[in-house]
Amino acid sequence: MIITIDGPAGSGKSTAARKLAAKLGVAYLDTGAMYRTIAFSAIEQGVHLKDEKALVEVARKADISLDCGPTHTRVTLNGHDVSEAIRSMAVNQATSYVARIQSIRDLLVEKQREIGRRLGSLVSEGRDQGSVVFPDAELKFFVEAAIEKRAMRRYQELSADGEEASYELILENLQERDGNDRRQWAPLLEPATAIHIDTTNMSIHEVVERLLEEVQKRRTAIRRSARLRRWPNPLTHDRSPITMKFQQDCEQIRLGYRIARAACRIAFGTYFRCRILHADRVPTTGGALLAANHQSFLDPIAGGIGLWRECSYIARDTLFANPYFGRMIRYVNAFPVKRGEADITAVKELLRRLRDGKVVMIFPEGTRSHSGEISPLNPNSLEIAKRARVPIVPLLIDGTFRAFPRGKILPRPYRVHIVHGRTMTREEVAASSTEAIVESVTRRLFEAQAESREIRMRRP
Ligand code: DC
Repeated sequence: MIITIDGPAGSGKSTAARKLAAKLGVAYLDTGAMYRTIAFSAIEQGVHLKDEKALVEVARKADISLDCGPTHTRVTLNGHDVSEAIRSMAVNQATSYVARIQSIRDLLVEKQREIGRRLGSLVSEGRDQGSVVFPDAELKFFVEAAIEKRAMRRYQELSADGEEASYELILENLQERDGNDRRQWAPLLEPATAIHIDTTNMSIHEVVERLLEEVQKRRTAIRRSARLRRWPNPLTHDRSPITMKFQQDCEQIRLGYRIARAACRIAFGTYFRCRILHADRVPTTGGALLAANHQSFLDPIAGGIGLWRECSYIARDTLFANPYFGRMIRYVNAFPVKRGEADITAVKELLRRLRDGKVVMIFPEGTRSHSGEISPLNPNSLEIAKRARVPIVPLLIDGTFRAFPRGKILPRPYRVHIVHGRTMTREEVAASSTEAIVESVTRRLFEAQAESREIRMRRP
């Protein structure tokens, strides 16, 4: 779930956002820190704050990374920790010059969205999070407080830090900032769907409790609507409806295979609330290499149920040792490979099947992921497509890492997405070098992952 907290300076949104994120166990995104880091970098490089071009250049070159924890935000700029430095008074003032430049805002907005896509769940705080950056956020808050109260809070904060401060000066400063907020760049907007919270007479504890209460309500509502949506059609092909024509164009499937696939589809659809996307990206006939990421033992089944054709698999030779199990997996087109050595027979069989017009699923990462993230792809496994002159369909399986990770005995009901990435056509494969193929398939897998996470963001 993406939660945004917007509001004017000093409304207490940072503390509230940080505490809420800690309670929920999700990341906290301090977007102000990003603007501050660029301002800091500009000061370091002696850039004139009115020189917009130079500031944009600074922003483009800045390699910022944020580690937003429950009690602190650690910020690194080009590998150096600048967490404390960006809180100085000089940076404070310089930041407004940075934050008013639209192309810098665009750059950071894109970065923030990228973080959102990557993490899936977070509490994001700033002045434009609900209105601009995450307009589709699941839950939006707008936090406000009377200006005198905000000035008093800041005064107490600074005094507690042992800094000399004047209440009147702070009040004046806030009045000026509020004026800017309304008039100038990136006006502070209250999103229509935001929950408005006036914190003037609330303690921080009360604010966090109120936010948590709303999160609970939203979660319940989401769960309820998901339950309603789930039963009529557990396998919703929301991004690419598979037409009757497409199904008829696909080659015939053996009855036994069809029954096995239907049983697995029902199990995945109900237990993992599985969704299949863009299944029409797999050609209806002819050979194709299905290059999937690998998270769990569930992946071969996930890959198979996402197809409208039969799928071939490469399986560890030890799996064929048991005659019953061996016969079963042979029936669903698995063939053996010896692990830990260059198995020429397996490569030949793979090439033969592709040339015979079969779809073969491979895991170019080599082994199941330890972190759930996509690891580097093995070039040799993708080069096969070039040799067999077939297209490559990148296949992103998302969620099986959580549903059935390494070391677990039983799977748990976590939502699984099967997303077919953009197909690399035969011609594209033929015209590309092996490195270019690896690069392209990786990029398409990440694209599919972003799409999956975007859906997860809307329906956690
Ligand atoms: O929240 P903060 O004080 O760390 O923000 C620092 C500055 O960055 C402040 O001038 C507002 C600006 N800012 C912005 O323009 N957009 C954001 N999303 C976050 C902060």
